[in-house]
Amino acid sequence: MSVLIVIQMRIGVLTGGGDCPGLNAVIRAIGRKGIVQYKDEFIGLKNGWAGLMNLNYINLERKNLSGILHLGGTILGSSRTNPEKEEGGYERAIENFKKLKLDALIVIGGNDTLGVAQKLHEMDIPVVGVPKTIDNDICATDMTFGFDTAVSIATEAIDRLHTTAESHHRCMVVEVMGRHAGWIATYSGIAGGADFILIPEEPCTVDDIIEVVKGRIERGKLFSIIVVAEGATLLETGVLAQSKEMDDFGNVRLGGIGDGLARVIEKRTGIESRAVVLGHVQRGGTPTAYDRVLGTKYGIAAIDMVHKGEFGMMTALQGTKVRPAPILDGIKESKAVDKETYEVAKAFFE
Ligand code: F6P
Repeated sequence: MSVLIVIQMRIGVLTGGGDCPGLNAVIRAIGRKGIVQYKDEFIGLKNGWAGLMNLNYINLERKNLSGILHLGGTILGSSRTNPEKEEGGYERAIENFKKLKLDALIVIGGNDTLGVAQKLHEMDIPVVGVPKTIDNDICATDMTFGFDTAVSIATEAIDRLHTTAESHHRCMVVEVMGRHAGWIATYSGIAGGADFILIPEEPCTVDDIIEVVKGRIERGKLFSIIVVAEGATLLETGVLAQSKEMDDFGNVRLGGIGDGLARVIEKRTGIESRAVVLGHVQRGGTPTAYDRVLGTKYGIAAIDMVHKGEFGMMTALQGTKVRPAPILDGIKESKAVDKETYEVAKAFFE
Protein backbone atom coordinates (compact mmCIF):
# COMPACT_ATOMS: atom_id res chain seq x y z
CA MET A 1 0.00 0.00 0.00
CA SER A 2 1.36 3.46 -0.88
CA VAL A 3 1.81 6.08 1.83
CA LEU A 4 0.93 9.74 1.38
CA ILE A 5 4.03 11.93 1.86
CA VAL A 6 2.86 15.31 3.13
CA ILE A 7 6.16 17.13 2.76
CA GLN A 8 6.90 20.04 0.55
CA MET A 9 8.33 19.01 -2.82
CA ARG A 10 9.79 20.78 -5.83
CA ILE A 11 8.12 19.44 -8.93
CA GLY A 12 8.71 20.01 -12.64
CA VAL A 13 5.68 19.99 -14.97
CA LEU A 14 5.77 19.77 -18.76
CA THR A 15 3.36 19.31 -21.68
CA GLY A 16 4.69 17.53 -24.78
CA GLY A 17 3.45 16.50 -28.24
CA GLY A 18 0.43 17.94 -30.05
CA ASP A 19 -1.54 20.30 -27.83
CA CYS A 20 -5.01 19.34 -26.72
CA PRO A 21 -7.96 21.07 -25.02
CA GLY A 22 -7.84 20.49 -21.26
CA LEU A 23 -4.07 20.78 -20.75
CA ASN A 24 -4.48 23.97 -18.73
CA ALA A 25 -7.13 22.31 -16.54
CA VAL A 26 -4.55 19.62 -15.64
CA ILE A 27 -1.78 22.16 -14.93
CA ARG A 28 -4.14 24.26 -12.80
CA ALA A 29 -5.30 21.28 -10.73
CA ILE A 30 -1.75 20.01 -10.13
CA GLY A 31 -0.59 23.47 -9.08
CA ARG A 32 -3.58 24.46 -6.98
CA LYS A 33 -3.64 21.29 -4.90
CA GLY A 34 0.16 21.14 -4.74
CA ILE A 35 0.62 24.74 -3.62
CA VAL A 36 -2.36 24.97 -1.24
CA GLN A 37 -2.37 21.51 0.36
CA TYR A 38 1.23 20.27 0.10
CA LYS A 39 3.04 23.64 -0.02
CA ASP A 40 4.89 22.40 -3.11
CA GLU A 41 6.96 24.51 -5.47
CA PHE A 42 6.50 24.12 -9.22
CA ILE A 43 8.81 24.63 -12.14
CA GLY A 44 6.96 24.89 -15.46
CA LEU A 45 9.26 23.48 -18.14
CA LYS A 46 8.60 25.22 -21.46
CA ASN A 47 7.83 23.45 -24.73
CA GLY A 48 7.95 19.83 -23.66
CA TRP A 49 11.26 18.02 -23.30
CA ALA A 50 13.04 20.98 -24.92
CA GLY A 51 12.46 22.93 -21.69
CA LEU A 52 14.20 20.35 -19.53
CA MET A 53 17.10 19.87 -21.94
CA ASN A 54 17.67 23.61 -22.48
CA LEU A 55 16.77 24.85 -18.98
CA ASN A 56 13.89 26.91 -20.34
CA TYR A 57 11.36 27.26 -17.52
CA ILE A 58 9.16 29.50 -15.41
CA ASN A 59 8.34 29.39 -11.73
CA LEU A 60 4.76 28.20 -11.76
CA GLU A 61 2.96 30.18 -9.09
CA ARG A 62 -0.66 30.72 -8.11
CA LYS A 63 -0.89 33.80 -10.32
CA ASN A 64 0.05 31.71 -13.38
CA LEU A 65 -2.73 29.26 -12.61
CA SER A 66 -5.53 31.78 -12.45
CA GLY A 67 -8.06 32.20 -15.30
CA ILE A 68 -6.75 29.29 -17.37
CA LEU A 69 -9.31 26.53 -16.78
CA HIS A 70 -11.36 27.33 -19.88
CA LEU A 71 -8.41 28.12 -22.15
CA GLY A 72 -7.33 25.78 -24.96
CA GLY A 73 -3.66 25.09 -25.70
CA THR A 74 -1.09 25.03 -22.91
CA ILE A 75 0.39 27.90 -20.92
CA LEU A 76 3.67 25.95 -20.89
CA GLY A 77 3.96 25.56 -24.67
CA SER A 78 4.58 22.22 -26.34
CA SER A 79 6.90 20.57 -28.85
CA ARG A 80 7.71 17.18 -30.29
CA THR A 81 11.37 17.41 -29.21
CA ASN A 82 12.78 13.97 -28.42
CA PRO A 83 15.85 13.75 -26.09
CA GLU A 84 16.86 10.61 -27.96
CA LYS A 85 17.44 12.67 -31.11
CA GLU A 86 19.59 15.29 -29.35
CA GLU A 87 23.30 14.94 -28.65
CA GLY A 88 23.47 13.69 -25.04
CA GLY A 89 19.74 14.45 -24.70
CA TYR A 90 18.95 12.12 -21.79
CA GLU A 91 22.17 13.07 -19.93
CA ARG A 92 21.25 16.75 -20.24
CA ALA A 93 17.70 16.10 -19.05
CA ILE A 94 18.94 14.23 -15.96
CA GLU A 95 21.64 16.82 -15.23
CA ASN A 96 19.08 19.65 -15.43
CA PHE A 97 16.60 17.75 -13.27
CA LYS A 98 19.30 17.75 -10.60
CA LYS A 99 20.39 21.34 -11.30
CA LEU A 100 16.78 22.52 -10.77
CA LYS A 101 16.73 20.52 -7.51
CA LEU A 102 13.55 18.76 -8.58
CA ASP A 103 12.06 15.96 -6.50
CA ALA A 104 9.75 14.72 -9.25
CA LEU A 105 8.45 15.35 -12.76
CA ILE A 106 4.83 15.35 -13.92
CA VAL A 107 4.73 14.67 -17.64
CA ILE A 108 1.52 15.42 -19.55
CA GLY A 109 1.70 13.85 -22.98
CA GLY A 110 0.71 11.24 -25.51
CA ASN A 111 2.41 7.99 -26.49
CA ASP A 112 5.67 9.64 -27.63
CA THR A 113 6.08 11.99 -24.65
CA LEU A 114 5.14 9.27 -22.16
CA GLY A 115 7.66 6.95 -23.88
CA VAL A 116 10.41 9.40 -22.90
CA ALA A 117 8.94 9.63 -19.38
CA GLN A 118 9.15 5.84 -19.07
CA LYS A 119 12.83 5.87 -20.16
CA LEU A 120 13.64 8.55 -17.57
CA HIS A 121 11.80 6.52 -14.94
CA GLU A 122 14.01 3.55 -15.85
CA MET A 123 17.00 5.91 -15.31
CA ASP A 124 15.74 6.55 -11.75
CA ILE A 125 14.05 9.91 -12.33
CA PRO A 126 10.79 10.01 -10.33
CA VAL A 127 8.10 10.53 -12.96
CA VAL A 128 4.30 10.54 -12.95
CA GLY A 129 2.47 10.64 -16.31
CA VAL A 130 -0.84 12.14 -17.38
CA PRO A 131 -2.22 10.73 -20.67
CA LYS A 132 -3.16 13.42 -23.17
CA THR A 133 -4.33 13.29 -26.78
CA ILE A 134 -7.37 14.18 -28.84
CA ASP A 135 -6.80 10.83 -30.59
CA ASN A 136 -7.79 8.78 -27.47
CA ASP A 137 -5.28 6.11 -28.50
CA ILE A 138 -3.52 5.54 -25.15
CA CYS A 139 -4.05 2.13 -23.53
CA ALA A 140 -4.87 1.42 -19.86
CA THR A 141 -7.20 4.43 -19.67
CA ASP A 142 -10.80 4.49 -20.86
CA MET A 143 -10.38 8.01 -22.18
CA THR A 144 -7.88 10.80 -22.65
CA PHE A 145 -8.91 14.41 -22.10
CA GLY A 146 -9.20 16.44 -25.31
CA PHE A 147 -11.01 13.63 -27.12
CA ASP A 148 -14.47 14.82 -26.09
CA THR A 149 -13.74 18.35 -27.33
CA ALA A 150 -12.37 17.09 -30.66
CA VAL A 151 -15.44 14.87 -31.15
CA SER A 152 -17.78 17.80 -30.37
CA ILE A 153 -16.00 20.05 -32.89
CA ALA A 154 -16.03 17.35 -35.58
CA THR A 155 -19.71 16.57 -34.92
CA GLU A 156 -20.68 20.21 -35.25
CA ALA A 157 -18.77 20.38 -38.54
CA ILE A 158 -20.56 17.26 -39.83
CA ASP A 159 -23.95 18.75 -38.87
CA ARG A 160 -23.12 21.89 -40.83
CA LEU A 161 -21.86 19.91 -43.82
CA HIS A 162 -25.04 17.85 -43.79
CA THR A 163 -27.29 20.79 -44.67
CA THR A 164 -25.08 22.06 -47.48
CA ALA A 165 -24.56 18.51 -48.83
CA GLU A 166 -28.32 17.99 -48.95
CA SER A 167 -29.02 21.35 -50.60
CA HIS A 168 -26.43 20.77 -53.34
CA HIS A 169 -26.93 17.00 -53.71
CA ARG A 170 -23.26 16.40 -52.99
CA CYS A 171 -21.10 13.87 -51.28
CA MET A 172 -19.04 15.47 -48.52
CA VAL A 173 -15.90 13.65 -47.41
CA VAL A 174 -14.84 14.89 -43.96
CA GLU A 175 -11.22 14.14 -43.03
CA VAL A 176 -10.57 14.15 -39.28
CA MET A 177 -7.46 13.51 -37.18
CA GLY A 178 -6.47 10.03 -36.09
CA ARG A 179 -3.04 8.75 -36.97
CA HIS A 180 -3.23 5.10 -35.89
CA ALA A 181 -6.72 4.98 -34.42
CA GLY A 182 -10.10 6.12 -35.68
CA TRP A 183 -11.72 7.19 -32.40
CA ILE A 184 -12.59 10.74 -33.50
CA ALA A 185 -13.91 9.50 -36.88
CA THR A 186 -16.02 6.76 -35.28
CA TYR A 187 -17.53 8.87 -32.51
CA SER A 188 -18.17 12.00 -34.59
CA GLY A 189 -19.39 9.82 -37.45
CA ILE A 190 -21.94 8.07 -35.23
CA ALA A 191 -22.99 11.37 -33.62
CA GLY A 192 -23.23 13.15 -36.98
CA GLY A 193 -25.05 10.34 -38.81
CA ALA A 194 -22.26 9.52 -41.28
CA ASP A 195 -23.09 7.16 -44.13
CA PHE A 196 -19.61 5.58 -44.07
CA ILE A 197 -16.71 5.86 -41.64
CA LEU A 198 -13.23 4.88 -42.70
CA ILE A 199 -10.65 4.21 -39.93
CA PRO A 200 -7.12 2.76 -39.74
CA GLU A 201 -8.29 -0.30 -37.80
CA GLU A 202 -10.83 -1.38 -40.44
CA PRO A 203 -9.29 -1.18 -43.92
CA CYS A 204 -11.82 -1.28 -46.76
CA THR A 205 -11.95 -0.88 -50.52
CA VAL A 206 -13.17 2.07 -52.59
CA ASP A 207 -15.91 -0.30 -53.86
CA ASP A 208 -17.32 -0.63 -50.31
CA ILE A 209 -17.81 3.14 -50.16
CA ILE A 210 -19.13 3.47 -53.72
CA GLU A 211 -21.71 0.77 -53.01
CA VAL A 212 -23.08 2.81 -50.09
CA VAL A 213 -23.21 6.09 -52.05
CA LYS A 214 -24.91 4.36 -55.01
CA GLY A 215 -27.36 2.58 -52.71
CA ARG A 216 -28.39 5.94 -51.29
CA ILE A 217 -28.85 7.43 -54.80
CA GLU A 218 -31.12 4.50 -55.67
CA ARG A 219 -33.21 5.29 -52.58
CA GLY A 220 -33.48 8.93 -53.67
CA LYS A 221 -30.85 10.18 -51.22
CA LEU A 222 -28.77 12.36 -53.49
CA PHE A 223 -26.25 13.34 -50.83
CA SER A 224 -23.86 11.42 -48.58
CA ILE A 225 -21.53 12.12 -45.68
CA ILE A 226 -18.33 10.09 -45.49
CA VAL A 227 -16.04 10.53 -42.45
CA VAL A 228 -12.45 9.45 -42.86
CA ALA A 229 -9.58 9.38 -40.35
CA GLU A 230 -6.36 10.83 -41.77
CA GLY A 231 -4.53 7.55 -41.07
CA ALA A 232 -7.21 5.31 -42.59
CA THR A 233 -6.21 2.61 -45.03
CA LEU A 234 -7.85 2.06 -48.37
CA LEU A 235 -6.83 -1.42 -49.50
CA GLU A 236 -5.99 -0.03 -52.97
CA THR A 237 -3.74 2.85 -51.87
CA GLY A 238 -2.64 2.23 -48.27
CA VAL A 239 -2.01 5.18 -45.93
CA LEU A 240 -1.48 8.55 -47.62
CA ALA A 241 1.20 10.89 -46.27
CA GLN A 242 1.31 14.61 -47.09
CA SER A 243 5.07 14.57 -46.83
CA LYS A 244 7.67 11.91 -46.12
CA GLU A 245 9.41 14.22 -43.65
CA MET A 246 9.34 12.81 -40.13
CA ASP A 247 9.16 14.50 -36.75
CA ASP A 248 11.58 13.62 -33.92
CA PHE A 249 9.50 10.57 -33.05
CA GLY A 250 9.38 9.19 -36.60
CA ASN A 251 5.80 10.30 -37.42
CA VAL A 252 5.12 11.40 -41.00
CA ARG A 253 2.60 14.17 -41.69
CA LEU A 254 -0.60 12.45 -42.78
CA GLY A 255 -3.43 13.88 -44.84
CA GLY A 256 -4.91 13.85 -48.31
CA ILE A 257 -7.01 10.69 -48.19
CA GLY A 258 -10.23 12.76 -48.10
CA ASP A 259 -9.39 14.65 -51.26
CA GLY A 260 -8.44 11.51 -53.19
CA LEU A 261 -11.60 9.77 -52.05
CA ALA A 262 -13.86 12.69 -53.04
CA ARG A 263 -12.43 12.64 -56.56
CA VAL A 264 -12.97 8.88 -56.98
CA ILE A 265 -16.52 9.07 -55.60
CA GLU A 266 -17.41 11.87 -58.03
CA LYS A 267 -15.94 9.97 -60.98
CA ARG A 268 -17.63 6.68 -60.16
CA THR A 269 -21.06 7.86 -59.00
CA GLY A 270 -21.56 11.10 -60.92
CA ILE A 271 -22.40 12.84 -57.61
CA GLU A 272 -20.50 16.08 -57.20
CA SER A 273 -18.12 15.57 -54.24
CA ARG A 274 -16.06 17.78 -51.96
CA ALA A 275 -13.44 17.08 -49.31
CA VAL A 276 -13.21 19.06 -46.07
CA VAL A 277 -10.14 18.67 -43.87
CA LEU A 278 -10.89 19.68 -40.26
CA GLY A 279 -7.22 19.56 -39.24
CA HIS A 280 -6.01 21.53 -36.23
CA VAL A 281 -9.41 23.15 -35.65
CA GLN A 282 -10.14 19.91 -33.78
CA ARG A 283 -7.33 20.65 -31.33
CA GLY A 284 -7.87 24.33 -30.79
CA GLY A 285 -10.06 26.43 -28.56
CA THR A 286 -11.96 25.97 -25.37
CA PRO A 287 -12.35 22.47 -23.84
CA THR A 288 -15.78 20.96 -23.21
CA ALA A 289 -17.03 20.72 -19.62
CA TYR A 290 -16.27 16.97 -19.73
CA ASP A 291 -12.61 17.57 -20.66
CA ARG A 292 -12.25 20.27 -17.99
CA VAL A 293 -13.57 17.84 -15.37
CA LEU A 294 -11.44 14.91 -16.60
CA GLY A 295 -8.34 17.15 -16.83
CA THR A 296 -8.99 18.42 -13.30
CA LYS A 297 -9.43 14.87 -11.94
CA TYR A 298 -6.19 13.80 -13.66
CA GLY A 299 -4.30 16.80 -12.24
CA ILE A 300 -5.48 16.14 -8.67
CA ALA A 301 -4.66 12.42 -9.02
CA ALA A 302 -1.20 13.20 -10.46
CA ILE A 303 -0.12 15.43 -7.58
CA ASP A 304 -1.42 12.87 -5.06
CA MET A 305 0.49 10.12 -6.89
CA VAL A 306 3.71 12.15 -6.62
CA HIS A 307 3.20 12.45 -2.86
CA LYS A 308 2.46 8.74 -2.58
CA GLY A 309 5.66 7.96 -4.49
CA GLU A 310 3.75 6.18 -7.26
CA PHE A 311 6.42 6.76 -9.88
CA GLY A 312 6.49 5.18 -13.33
CA MET A 313 2.69 5.35 -13.17
CA MET A 314 0.18 7.48 -15.03
CA THR A 315 -3.34 8.63 -14.18
CA ALA A 316 -5.94 6.42 -15.86
CA LEU A 317 -9.72 6.59 -16.10
CA GLN A 318 -11.15 3.18 -15.28
CA GLY A 319 -14.92 3.33 -15.35
CA THR A 320 -15.74 6.47 -13.39
CA LYS A 321 -12.64 6.38 -11.16
CA VAL A 322 -9.15 7.74 -11.80
CA ARG A 323 -6.53 5.18 -10.78
CA PRO A 324 -2.77 4.79 -11.21
CA ALA A 325 -1.67 2.53 -14.09
CA PRO A 326 1.89 1.72 -15.23
CA ILE A 327 3.03 4.12 -17.98
CA LEU A 328 4.37 1.03 -19.76
CA ASP A 329 0.84 -0.41 -20.01
CA GLY A 330 -0.42 2.89 -21.43
CA ILE A 331 2.11 3.10 -24.25
CA LYS A 332 2.54 -0.56 -25.19
CA GLU A 333 0.53 -0.05 -28.40
CA SER A 334 -1.98 2.31 -29.96
CA LYS A 335 -5.43 1.72 -28.43
CA ALA A 336 -7.68 0.62 -31.28
CA VAL A 337 -11.38 1.43 -31.65
CA ASP A 338 -13.29 -1.50 -30.20
CA LYS A 339 -15.14 -3.74 -32.65
CA GLU A 340 -18.42 -3.30 -30.81
CA THR A 341 -18.48 0.49 -31.31
CA TYR A 342 -17.46 0.20 -34.96
CA GLU A 343 -20.27 -2.35 -35.50
CA VAL A 344 -22.71 0.27 -34.15
CA ALA A 345 -21.44 2.71 -36.79
CA LYS A 346 -21.58 0.03 -39.53
CA ALA A 347 -25.29 -0.57 -38.97
CA PHE A 348 -25.81 2.71 -40.87
CA PHE A 349 -23.50 1.99 -43.85
CA GLU A 350 -26.24 1.08 -46.37
O1 F6P B 1 -1.19 13.33 -31.99
C1 F6P B 1 -2.35 14.02 -32.18
C2 F6P B 1 -2.49 14.53 -33.57
O2 F6P B 1 -3.56 15.39 -33.45
C3 F6P B 1 -2.68 13.47 -34.67
O3 F6P B 1 -3.98 13.05 -34.82
C4 F6P B 1 -2.18 14.18 -35.89
O4 F6P B 1 -1.75 13.30 -36.88
C5 F6P B 1 -1.06 14.98 -35.37
O5 F6P B 1 -1.37 15.27 -34.00
C6 F6P B 1 -0.77 16.24 -36.13
O6 F6P B 1 0.04 17.07 -35.38
P1 F6P B 1 1.00 18.23 -35.86
O7 F6P B 1 0.49 18.74 -37.15
O8 F6P B 1 0.90 19.22 -34.77
O9 F6P B 1 2.35 17.64 -35.94
